[in-house]
Amino acid sequence: MTPATARGPAAVVSAIGAALPMNIVSNDDLTTRLDTTDEWIRSRTGITHRHIAGADQSTTDLAVRAAAQALTSGEPEQVDALVVATTTPDHCCPATAPAVATRLGLTGIPAYDLAAGCTGFLYALATAAGLIASGTARTVLAVGADRLASLPHPEDRTTVPLFGDGAGAMVLRHGSADETGALGPMVLGSDGTGADLIRASRPGALHMDGADVFRHAVDRMSTASRRVVAAAGWDLGDVDRLVPHQANGRITSFVARRLGVPDGRQLSNVAEVGNTGAASIPLLLAQAAADGRLGPGHRTLLTAFGAGLTWGAVALTWPDLSPARLPKGAGHDR
Ligand code: UT7
Repeated sequence: MTPATARGPAAVVSAIGAALPMNIVSNDDLTTRLDTTDEWIRSRTGITHRHIAGADQSTTDLAVRAAAQALTSGEPEQVDALVVATTTPDHCCPATAPAVATRLGLTGIPAYDLAAGCTGFLYALATAAGLIASGTARTVLAVGADRLASLPHPEDRTTVPLFGDGAGAMVLRHGSADETGALGPMVLGSDGTGADLIRASRPGALHMDGADVFRHAVDRMSTASRRVVAAAGWDLGDVDRLVPHQANGRITSFVARRLGVPDGRQLSNVAEVGNTGAASIPLLLAQAAADGRLGPGHRTLLTAFGAGLTWGAVALTWPDLSPARLPKGAGHDR
């Protein structure tokens, strides 16, 4: 796909929020039920903990909490449309988004789900930008929410340690392309010939070809990133913050190295949350904006890869979200 740049009004980031379940499961906790070690998981993935939703905590619940945090941390805005990216909707039918909208007091607005694996949030940003550019909406709430920990078979040591649950949300408002915070060029792609590499027919039945996924993830995220950086008129050395989907620490390090982005410019939270699917990027953005790792003016490169196969990258300059607009205690359930 040729990198897309907005025509018409641009989508500008105006608020962000996140939610994580309270329950934290450490690698040592996993060793009590799986034939694995903390050392193996840490060295192969960089993960030490993950947050796992209880049986009473649905994808809808996580999405509502993240969205509510975004809405209360920004200026009060009328939301015209809601998109929820998820691989783990609570039901095959109906979609998650209408229930999320209603619980937020937004009954009546267009609300729908999209499924693009761990790339889902970047697809949601593209959708939000399109709704705004076409004049269909002035303000869009884009949410990534997943309970990915429900997908592996509970005894599969090759996949259980990788995944966690969570949600992230972003409010995008109508604005102009030259504003700080405007979504810049986007690259999105898919390749169904790789459909069997990550596949789940139902919860508890995930199949993943880890080594092949690893290779594709590094290749696709690196290539999409290069293209989007070029389309933005940047050099790779201009990237202040690389925000890759937190698949695992080794994948993201390979991507950063291939792009020549120094470690200090790469944001990461995989150690504490694992791979949270479509929630991964907005959750990391919310945490980093709240703790100062991500600040106004940072040239920010988002990139993701996931089941499908799907991949994508988006460039933007991070906006000046005033302190009142930053999510407080981003991500933790209270
Ligand atoms: O959004 C994308 C989502 N997917 C991913 O991010 C996954 C990408 N893939 C990976 O990150 C890596 O492929 C894994 C972390 C999943 C696996 O690492 P690996 O270095 O590719 O290991 P492997 O699958 O080649 O397995 C090496 C060995 C095997 O034992 P043998 O056959 O050599 O005796 C596995 O059985 O490691 C064993 N193994 C484990 N050992 C201890 C696999 N999982 C574990 C475990 N603890 N949890």
